[in-house]
Amino acid sequence: MKYSIIGCGRISSHHIESAQKNKLDIIGLCDLDINKAYELAKKYNLDSAICYDNYKDMINDLLKKKILYQEDFKKNFFTSVTTDSGSHFVIAKYLLSNSINTLCEKPITLSLKECDELIEISNKNDLIFGVCQQNRLNNSSQLLKKAIDSGAFGKISHASVCVRWCRGKEYYSQDSWRGKWLSDGGAMMNQCIHGVDLSRWLMGNDVESMYSVIANQQHDYLEVEDLGVAIVKFKSGTILTIEGTTNIYDDNLEETIAIFGENGTVKLSGEVAENIVYWKFKDTKVNNWIKDIKEVNYSSVYGDGHSRIFENIILAIKSHTTPYVDAIAGRNALENILAMYESYFTKKLVKFPLSNECSTKKYINYNLSKSNFMKKPLNM
Ligand SMILES: NC(=O)c1ccc[n+]([C@@H]2O[C@H](COP(=O)([O-])OP(=O)(O)OC[C@H]3O[C@@H](n4cnc5c(N)ncnc54)[C@H](O)[C@@H]3O)[C@@H](O)[C@H]2O)c1
Repeated sequence: MKYSIIGCGRISSHHIESAQKNKLDIIGLCDLDINKAYELAKKYNLDSAICYDNYKDMINDLLKKKILYQEDFKKNFFTSVTTDSGSHFVIAKYLLSNSINTLCEKPITLSLKECDELIEISNKNDLIFGVCQQNRLNNSSQLLKKAIDSGAFGKISHASVCVRWCRGKEYYSQDSWRGKWLSDGGAMMNQCIHGVDLSRWLMGNDVESMYSVIANQQHDYLEVEDLGVAIVKFKSGTILTIEGTTNIYDDNLEETIAIFGENGTVKLSGEVAENIVYWKFKDTKVNNWIKDIKEVNYSSVYGDGHSRIFENIILAIKSHTTPYVDAIAGRNALENILAMYESYFTKKLVKFPLSNECSTKKYINYNLSKSNFMKKPLNM
């Protein structure tokens, strides 16, 4: 299967390694800064891949050179979008409108309306459209999902998700898009989206309402939040608490998810919730499920899920089935985070489903690092 990538920055190496592991034919690399594409090609010995500085030129030129054929589009080709979050919409729209299967980095977009537009185009053109929310594919998450689906927890009282990571000035100053409403969002949208995704996927979609507070406590050079706390109520009565931050001194501490049911308690933790640290059920059969699960120690905060995401996208393209982490999964995680922003800025309990007018663009005039930046709730 043929493959190309748009955006050759920090995360791109995980895409290329996953492409190589899954034996994809890497035909094009694109970055506005073409030197980054050349560097990536050199690092991974991609001698036959062509480098570009414009993604439209890349697709057209690959077609012109007969490296890529129109007939490849639906069954034999996909492209990763690994650019800054604010540009996902425009690039994915171009790809999907031209009938190209697309794997987009998280967050899928920064606006629900834009996300809905992409989903509509993808459905209309009958395409595979996946999102890199890779922690769902950790063995630990998969087993927890199996326990929930089996009913082993009984009635779930509550759950909690915490993403306690560390990002300092040297991280944010790497690129001008980081930590801005228009191109990134804050700790919740960029870093903690992984934990939010896990919780939404595990706990289900019957979200009733959410109340949230966000704040900027330690990053006075950013306009966005570095801390977010939310209480989510499900229609079933289950309560979920979310805590996400990039303020931990002086390293990533944990991504932890814990679920408390009348017949079971589970806690996953580690840098990306990759390990089962507590697993206890009334049903002894379920207790035994973890016998063969080994502790993992990932070399990076991205875990090893990208390769599994690729494996699944390839399968979805070949068998023309929905990918495991599809665009709806991307939309759900985005909805939760935009609901946190909406609740904070309106000082109100937010009811679900969230209006698709919600977008980070609504907050571009607000700088959370300035104290008393807003004395009364926004009139939205
Ligand atoms: N899934 C994960 O665990 C994970 C981890 C890190 C980053 N990400 C996501 O990946 C995306 C990229 O993050 P990053 O850290 O690699 O950023 P980065 O700034 O290091 O890389 C982005 C690259 O995209 C290029 N680019 C921007 N617009 C472009 C365009 N129109 N055409 C071609 N190239 C363009 C930039 O020049 C840059 O080199 C973000 O959305 C981020 O949220 C996901």
